[in-house]
Amino acid sequence: MCGIIGYIGEKNSLPILIEGLKRLEYRGYDSAGVALIHQKELVVYKQAGKVSELDKIVTANSFHASIGVGHTRWATHGEPNDINAHPHGDCHEEIAVIHNGIIENYATLRRKLERDGHTMRTETDTEVIAHLIEEKYKLKNDLFTATRLALLEVEGSYGLLVISKNESDKIIAARKGSPLMIGIGKGENFIASDAAALIDHTRDVLYLNDDEIVCVYADSYYTKTIHDQPVVKEVEKITFDLEQIEKGGFEHFMLKEIHDQPEAIRNSLRGRLLVDEGRAKLGGLERSLDKLLQARRLIITACGTSWHAALVGKYLFEQLGRIPVEVDYASEFRYRNPIINSDDVLFVISQSGETADTLAALREAKSKGATVFGIVNGVGSSIARETDAGVFIHAGPEIGVASTKAFTCQLSVLSLIALLLGQYRGLPDEQGKLLATDLASIPNKIRKILDKSEQIKNIAAEFKDTHNFLYLGRGSNFPTALEGALKLKEISYIHAEGYPAAEMKHGPIALIDENMPVVFIVPKDPIYEKILSNMQEVRARKGRIIAIANEDDYEIDKLAEFVIRVPRTYSYFGPIVNVVPLQLLAYYIAVGRGCNVDQPRNLAKSVTVE
Ligand code: G6P
Repeated sequence: MCGIIGYIGEKNSLPILIEGLKRLEYRGYDSAGVALIHQKELVVYKQAGKVSELDKIVTANSFHASIGVGHTRWATHGEPNDINAHPHGDCHEEIAVIHNGIIENYATLRRKLERDGHTMRTETDTEVIAHLIEEKYKLKNDLFTATRLALLEVEGSYGLLVISKNESDKIIAARKGSPLMIGIGKGENFIASDAAALIDHTRDVLYLNDDEIVCVYADSYYTKTIHDQPVVKEVEKITFDLEQIEKGGFEHFMLKEIHDQPEAIRNSLRGRLLVDEGRAKLGGLERSLDKLLQARRLIITACGTSWHAALVGKYLFEQLGRIPVEVDYASEFRYRNPIINSDDVLFVISQSGETADTLAALREAKSKGATVFGIVNGVGSSIARETDAGVFIHAGPEIGVASTKAFTCQLSVLSLIALLLGQYRGLPDEQGKLLATDLASIPNKIRKILDKSEQIKNIAAEFKDTHNFLYLGRGSNFPTALEGALKLKEISYIHAEGYPAAEMKHGPIALIDENMPVVFIVPKDPIYEKILSNMQEVRARKGRIIAIANEDDYEIDKLAEFVIRVPRTYSYFGPIVNVVPLQLLAYYIAVGRGCNVDQPRNLAKSVTVE
């Protein structure tokens, strides 16, 4: 959840750290801090608030420190105030530690350290690591070994950087469960929790695996496991560009990412959707295709927006591939002692590739013998590396905390996999061709919806002060309704719920009065008429209807107060198109309410804690 950056080399580390933290701020933004070593002294600046606030106090200082570490926090233990901000130090302020993750046995460690005479200054779990390293340093007098020994006593997850004024030529980096990578430069090295912070400086990276610890000097490094085994790492390349992580003239990353969708989906489909043949070719699945085709059932697991994609995936796989599919929240799956057979295939869906619960679900399924496939955006991420095979969604970096383009790209990849399953499981060739043609046309259909932004903005202005919203849809548009509601609550803080339209009469109908906006996703599909009846029921109770309906639907104006028209598409792929006006509606309502759209309160982009 938190962002981590470290620098060691000839340059002044401070501006590098601050710029890096700004790029990482989407991971957590309740406080920020840096620790530097200047003339053999440790200098720490940290405070509650955003990186821009920290920037103001540190830029007033003009000294040159060629080694430093920085952190932007998403609080787990302890209020987000100045004291609990990272870095954290030992008793003598010689060591500084920054950490992403959770130390699960911190209470036990803290009690023990306090009994041994250590004084804790913060409520954080991280601080115990600094004191534990201090304790080990007394015995070994070597920062790398002291950190390694300390970590042997730590339970939980960490992406960790450690510096000490006594050994100012190195940064120690260690990973268990939280992402960390080393950026290799010329006479300088970087460490970060995310490639976004490195790309200004280098494209050569080493991805750390769990239980690895690295000693990083300005011009070299060495790696071991925390159990003292040597490790040889391969240098890999970062493949995305800087422009892809900048706002490109849009007011917010979220708006840019909504507008990125036609191109992002084209990238997801490129080379994989063979329109003329009506089939899909997915290189990432080829070597495990047998497993997929022999599976008796598929399980899809994920969190948040990716879980909504999984629900659409169930619909796609069952309809086109005629194979039973179960969908589970990753956090529930992992603790359910799930019944897994060796002929089960588990798909995990994750934008970041770092979500702790999804990673744990993957490991649980693997340990029980299932084959695990990933549908992931983060190349080099933990999930991408631990799955048996998979398909990258190629959405490009997604910075806005509320997921938009990753969702539609996940749906595009799920559509490709459904077509692939269909090829082998009885989908007629002619239908495959029609579907492939339709899928290829989706980027243009989204472009048409983006052209309606002004209309959606006006509808948003009408509803920006409401307190509740209901989203209703059926079939694969039930998950679309869930996703529309999630977008709204995430960024505008308006309470919103998604329901299958027919379920409305079993509860939510009690809420409907003249103040309740109800968004219906009502494309012309086989259950269209049924949804019209649900709309009548809302209208009879004076609810205010916003309909997402097809361009050639002339009935709908009689029932809805507002109609946002979307191009027709096969119902299988409908959610990819229909969610776009819901993203824009949520965006404009949140902007109208003055909310921080890209960094909504209490949320984080990448949830690397349970
Ligand atoms: C967080 C993000 C959501 C995301 C979810 C799952 O809650 O704010 O946007 O859908 O995590 O993340 P993942 O990276 O696994 O898709």
